Amino acid sequence: MPSSTLTRTRLATVLVAVAALVPALVAVSPARAADGGRPGISKKHFGTLAGGRKIDVYTLRNAAGMRVRILTYGGILQSIEVPDSKGKLANVTLGFDNLSDYVKKSPYFGCITGRYANRIAKGRFTLDGKTYRLATNDGPNHLHGGAKGFDKRVWKADPFVRGGSVGLALTYTSSNGEEGYPGTLRTRVVYTLTRDNRIRMDYRATTSRPTVVNLTNHAYFNLRGEGNGRILGHELQINASRYTPVDQTLIPTGKIARLGGTPLDFREPTAIGDRVNSGNQQIVRGGGYDHNYVLDGRGLRTAATVVEPDSGRVLKVITDQPGLQFYSGNFLDGTLRGTSGRLYPKRSGFALESQHFPDSPNHANFPSTVLRPGDVYQTTTIYAFSTVS
Ligand code: BGC
Repeated sequence: MPSSTLTRTRLATVLVAVAALVPALVAVSPARAADGGRPGISKKHFGTLAGGRKIDVYTLRNAAGMRVRILTYGGILQSIEVPDSKGKLANVTLGFDNLSDYVKKSPYFGCITGRYANRIAKGRFTLDGKTYRLATNDGPNHLHGGAKGFDKRVWKADPFVRGGSVGLALTYTSSNGEEGYPGTLRTRVVYTLTRDNRIRMDYRATTSRPTVVNLTNHAYFNLRGEGNGRILGHELQINASRYTPVDQTLIPTGKIARLGGTPLDFREPTAIGDRVNSGNQQIVRGGGYDHNYVLDGRGLRTAATVVEPDSGRVLKVITDQPGLQFYSGNFLDGTLRGTSGRLYPKRSGFALESQHFPDSPNHANFPSTVLRPGDVYQTTTIYAFSTVS
């Protein structure tokens, strides 16, 4: 590393440390964040919760000009601005421009989802012989952590600038019994914006008692730009040859079935809209795609690639998780007004949620989601942006 870079890195570290001590100092970037040349991070007030707690928005910026905004409420990725093939920036994630809409109406836009992302059948599971009861907030089932999951909690934020990357470490301690889950869960999610336009998410959790845990990020994407029509022309490829079929309430039947020959097979790049209205029973049950794909391979690997042909924007989802929920925004219904003031019609955003399989606590044949005291839950997912011309 050239010594000037080293000095700048040290200076950045010192500034970050000073900023943490002086709340009035909002800009924690090493230098002018707007000069296009250096990564930076700044903080602003975003809104105040009914109880009086203040929520901040952090803006992360890399040297390439990509900008990411993160809220301390729900650890929400509020906006992700990436260039198209001509270099024009657009915000490619769905969201709101105000806190009140996130609190009152958000269908999990951009949030950290937990303690258990996705569904647990009838809000019930048994661990070490004891049965736990959770909120049923999705018909008969438990969804995304319950009535007040991690998406609705206030996270403590610590910004950092390290080399060419800039990031935000978020921490939240969920007390024993919160939302019915056993064990005090200490959770840390580190968002890092790298110099090569990747958002890296490193999750870590420890528990005081045996529990279950399944964390994800629930960003909805539209690579044309949020509010800019539907996602049906996006070409999707998923590295999965199997999936977990669901019943009428979107709970896995327990089978792990082959995708080959079904309209859910995305091993070859295919436009999302091509088969989304098919009469296939699984697609009908989901109202479109709303399924967990059993990813091929192990370790940190590319799970899915999405190409939007008009803008040339490309999103790759890289993860070490065993599953990926592909949700084609079927429940968006044109009533939510998004960040730039436009309405979000049905299928105007899609989510690719890296995860353990839904309802794993009730399926012994699925990879385990049990976390015990002394063990560390650790997982990484990356949203990697690029372009094709
Ligand atoms: C689920 C959908 C749900 C959406 C928003 C997704 O993870 O699979 O069924 O509607 O989240 O809550």
